Amino acid sequence: MQKLEVFGANKLKGQINISGSKNASLPILAATLLTDKKVFLNNLPKVKDIETMINLLQSLGSKTKFEKKKLIIDNSNQEKKFASYSLVKTMRAGILVLGPLLAKFGSAKVSLPGGCAIGTRPVDLHLKALSKLGVKYKIIQGYVHATAPKGLIGSKIRFSKISVGATENLIIAASLAKGNTILSNCAIEPEIKDLVNFLNKAGCNLKWVAKRSIKIIGVKKINEITYPIMFDRIEAGTYLVAAAATEGNLKIKNVVPSIIQTEIDTLKKIGAKIDTKKDQIHIIGNKKIKSMNIKTAPYPGFPTDLQAQIMVLLCKGNKRSLIQEDIFENRFMHVAELNRMGAQISTHGNKAIIEGNVNFASAELMATDLRASVSLILAALTAKGKSVINRIYHLDRGYENIEKKLKKVGAKIKRIN
Ligand code: EPZ
Repeated sequence: MQKLEVFGANKLKGQINISGSKNASLPILAATLLTDKKVFLNNLPKVKDIETMINLLQSLGSKTKFEKKKLIIDNSNQEKKFASYSLVKTMRAGILVLGPLLAKFGSAKVSLPGGCAIGTRPVDLHLKALSKLGVKYKIIQGYVHATAPKGLIGSKIRFSKISVGATENLIIAASLAKGNTILSNCAIEPEIKDLVNFLNKAGCNLKWVAKRSIKIIGVKKINEITYPIMFDRIEAGTYLVAAAATEGNLKIKNVVPSIIQTEIDTLKKIGAKIDTKKDQIHIIGNKKIKSMNIKTAPYPGFPTDLQAQIMVLLCKGNKRSLIQEDIFENRFMHVAELNRMGAQISTHGNKAIIEGNVNFASAELMATDLRASVSLILAALTAKGKSVINRIYHLDRGYENIEKKLKKVGAKIKRIN
């Protein structure tokens, strides 16, 4: 099992280039199943979850190859409709192949994702909405056996709860359905907008008709397409918090600042100095970190994927802060580890009370999930001495070259096999 050694404390200084978005890449990779034409994707991040999704596509019969940094996907002979537990259990976004397989073949057998550290990760919203398109399904031994006897038929569907994955699955499925579909109460994360842009560029007919409603006019086929994946806004937010926590001075490149305006405004309120240009954010951390209360929410609210990271910063606030996690039921796994570094955080259901004025002490730590792992690195960067973070396979699922990027801006961090 690999681990990371981090020697703190030091200020991060320099420039970090942001990679492509993991959470935009995954639904777009799944959506390539809709077409038997070639798809060329640029700017995919080199992270484990993307590798797993490509393996899943290959297990379904896709032919994929990288030409330098461009991935070429050829689904002309793709005909399998079975997505195995062995692949889907490690990466819950595997459920996103259900929609395209049903759209293309009218039947599919896809493993239920199963839970993970942050929650049970149900897919009831996906299945209920797909049944509105004419899908019949049964759950047998952990697999969804789904058929669309008359093909997918467009319909009006309102999600009872905002769900990123369910919105993505339905957008992909409805793109090839017969007739028109209106999806309302959709998630509107930037990654979903990227998926819609990808599908429209490939010849689909999707149009936002209200803030959280989209109209989808089914098409018969999809053209060959080359598409650049958008930047990873959670990676960008993570490094912004790192600069604020270490009183650093970072230039974050390859970003669209307006997409993460909520995070920028939050960090300014906490005391960081931030200037933005077209594709860059310049942040200077402040010695004085102001406490504040934060609730996670669907986009454009404060993202749950940055909750663990901002908690580290608020431990260094001048007073008590509160974080309310309103998206996932168990996303405080990082609290116990941060408390072992001297934090004073108490959790009560989905609320965490964070005492301020903490100086983290280095320690041996255990990563539990992707974003919790990176919060431990942020704390370790501010702690004097050597910290060791175990189980960093969680980290490798979603951060490309994290120790290389951090080393380049002055962090003392190394991977130990
Ligand atoms: C996506 O997960 C992201 N993953 C998550 O990022 C992110 O935290 C989450 O959206 C929220 O923004 C990818 O995009 C691959 P949801 P997803 O469906 O689609 C409940 C990361 O760190 N729910 O919006 O699974 C669910 O349990 C990952 O990169 C149902 O009840 O999130 C959760 O409480 C972690 N029934 C809430 O809705 C369903 O059918 C939001 O989940 C689906 C979801």
